[in-house]
Amino acid sequence: MDFNLSEEQLMIQQAARDFAQNELLPGVIERDRDQKFPTEQVKMMGEMGLLGMMVDPKYGGAGMDSVSYVLAMEEIAKVDASAAVVMSVNNSLVCAGLEKFASEEQKQKYLTPLASGKVIGAFALSEPEAGSDATSQKTTAEDKGDYYLLNGIKNWITNGGTASYYIVIAQTDPEKKHKGINAFIVERGWEGFEIGPKEDKLGIRGSDTHSLMFNNVKVPKENRIGEDGFGFNFAMAVLNGGRIGIASQALGIASGAYELALKYAKTRKAFKTEIINHQAIAFKLADMATQITAARMLCFKAATEKDAGKDISESGAMAKLYASQVAMDTSVEAVQIHGGYGYVKEYHVERFMRDAKITQIYEGTSEIQKIVISRSIAK
Ligand code: CAA
Repeated sequence: MDFNLSEEQLMIQQAARDFAQNELLPGVIERDRDQKFPTEQVKMMGEMGLLGMMVDPKYGGAGMDSVSYVLAMEEIAKVDASAAVVMSVNNSLVCAGLEKFASEEQKQKYLTPLASGKVIGAFALSEPEAGSDATSQKTTAEDKGDYYLLNGIKNWITNGGTASYYIVIAQTDPEKKHKGINAFIVERGWEGFEIGPKEDKLGIRGSDTHSLMFNNVKVPKENRIGEDGFGFNFAMAVLNGGRIGIASQALGIASGAYELALKYAKTRKAFKTEIINHQAIAFKLADMATQITAARMLCFKAATEKDAGKDISESGAMAKLYASQVAMDTSVEAVQIHGGYGYVKEYHVERFMRDAKITQIYEGTSEIQKIVISRSIAK
């Protein structure tokens, strides 16, 4: 692995950093408080090419590599983890899956507007009774000849209220278990498709999380992705890449919290000196810096392997497992270093602490990552 970043990668990192500082930082506290989706900012991210970063320009994407994606994701999440998850879902779960597995017609119709950021997408796998155990899908898609009839409920869907297009996973033939699962592209507004109320969440409150209800929704056959029965393998392949996005989001949360803690520790005085001169604080910062660097290396490794076309199930899971733990630990310690100031909204670190938790849950819990890693090393 070569960790010397190219000029182009450094430019992307700087552009994302500038955007985050200039456009995301103002109002981030208010958006978190009011659960307000960053509509204007997401539109700008689309114009910058951040919503279809790795997609071929012929389908409206920016044609960049996955390391650039990690760099940009870190910079966005360092300031606004809610905007970062919108970006991660659109890039990794929606655009990447369509580019790799959709038909040419599906790419023209759906991928192009999604990758150019004209619209955003959502990925609907989780259900009230099937999150980690993804094969136990209760949503059904009954084959009716030239269309499928979709029925069921999806839960906790990121971009659920703002997406135009949804990738929906459903069971077509329960007898065949995971081989009877399919993935479909469903358009917002189709008859029988309803969006539930917005979830009131602990963290990433600027992002838009909803349940989705499908009641006899007619999905044309040409909207199935891949061969009949490919849906579960599709979801697994897409989630492998998604885990790089969430690992990078976690990395950004950790580095955002760390940078604030470092700055505070250099200026805040206690016992006649800046608190960074107390070993109790200095050692916390040393641990944070080390763990963040290690998390970044795992993200780069998974991203580099993805671009080389390798199987990234193990490296993506390792990056997400570790980076999400680092996000949690670092943000808790950043609050501790800030003392009483850390507990109030104005200092941002309490938000990082709340935002960090979801990175250990969505796109596969930490326990699921350990299943994936342990199965891989046992092979
Ligand atoms: N990569 C590629 N293929 C995989 C895979 C992986 N990581 N894991 C499993 N598969 C394939 C297997 O090879 C097998 O395929 P074949 O039959 O063709 O050989 C098939 O999937 C079934 O595999 P298993 O028998 O191992 O399946 P399982 O029932 O034991 O489950 C699991 C495996 C890893 C636990 C899987 O269910 C899983 O990943 N669960 C977590 C799902 C998840 O991440 N949910 C989060 C929801 S999405 C979200 O959060 C979106 C959002 O809004 C942010």
